[in-house]
Amino acid sequence: RADGDPLITEIQDWNRYLGDGVQARPYGVPSEFEAHVVRRDVEWLTASTESSVNFTPLHELEGIITPNGLCFERHHGGIAEIDPANHRLMINGLVDKQLVFTMEDLKRFPRENRVYFLECAANSGMEWRGAQLNGCQYTHGMIHCVVYTGVPLKYLLQEAGVKTNGKWILPEGADAAAMTRSVPIEKALDDCLVAFKMNGEALRPEQGYPLRLVVPGWEGNMWVKWLRRIEVGDEPWHHREETSKYTDLLANGKSRRFTWVMDVKSVITNPSPQAPVTHGKGPLVISGVAWSGNGRVTRVDVSIDGGRNWHTARIDGPSLPKAMHRFYLDIDWDGSDLLLQSRAIDEMGYVQPTKEELRVSRGENSIYHNNGIQTWHVKTDGTVENVEIS
Ligand code: MTE
Ligand code: CO
Repeated sequence: RADGDPLITEIQDWNRYLGDGVQARPYGVPSEFEAHVVRRDVEWLTASTESSVNFTPLHELEGIITPNGLCFERHHGGIAEIDPANHRLMINGLVDKQLVFTMEDLKRFPRENRVYFLECAANSGMEWRGAQLNGCQYTHGMIHCVVYTGVPLKYLLQEAGVKTNGKWILPEGADAAAMTRSVPIEKALDDCLVAFKMNGEALRPEQGYPLRLVVPGWEGNMWVKWLRRIEVGDEPWHHREETSKYTDLLANGKSRRFTWVMDVKSVITNPSPQAPVTHGKGPLVISGVAWSGNGRVTRVDVSIDGGRNWHTARIDGPSLPKAMHRFYLDIDWDGSDLLLQSRAIDEMGYVQPTKEELRVSRGENSIYHNNGIQTWHVKTDGTVENVEIS
């Protein structure tokens, strides 16, 4: 409105008076008008908040980097609060010499900066049997993507000297859950990092301060936080997190095990149930994120009619392996019902499957590794609902 809008014709308070000076906010926080942009949990999901999860507000974010304060949290025994001066990392087991590092020691090894997504294997798990939660924050928000600074794990293992029969590592957390996972040595020597910074600043306590393992492209459970020990062994340990949990129960009662890679996946973040269309018909920016544990995402297709017709979306911003990608489809909305879907394809040629295809190959019992295509129903009034179509 160019004519007589008081926000144009009248001087506002913030235009009339001086604002806060420097140092009023020595560690900056977002505008008070962004107070709704927070991690949220689903109360009925878990019995306690210490062994629980909250979700990244994907529908409020842009680009590919998740701000530190909005990275979803998943803890099995609450947040460990650790003074870095009292933190140690031990390497033991099948090594030539057992080593104990202080944080200071670790910061004398060559370090790298890498952008990676972390997705919990249980992301979208509640959606396995049908559409359930109304919002991409809840259906897809167990993911974040940040730039890590850390020491390649291979340098630390080389320093300790892995014996020839050392085929697996067991990273262990210093939290009350003392979480452990078996990781094959090939991965440990490939691209794993022992990270102490995220997005340029120290890891947040929620994300494992002062030290966490980064296991690019693989399920979040393996990214041990508050990392205190790495044991080298000759076979996997078959601990809780790789037997009763983080295995995929099939229809015949057998479980798939060691399903580490997070396969190609995408979701439309806007519009979505928590981010309805409020502007009526006309230009509409459809936006979303895509990622693959196998490398780069090379293409994302978007459908506005429930998968009948597909349009190649525009990937915008950096395209990095095992990192989030941002895509857009800019349309002219005629105001009619839409069935929005996105389908990502990675550099291995893998195509994101439909939920039905997943159920046919893996049955109905699964929780983990649901990378099926999501459908949002945009109604004529702009509200959006989580639906499944067949
Ligand atoms: N590491 C420790 N020590 N304790 C934990 O409970 N949770 C794991 C993993 N590492 C966990 C842990 C799980 S299941 C996931 S999905 C990721 O950390 C979550 O990382 P985030 O809290 O940074 O999002
Ligand atoms: Co997890």
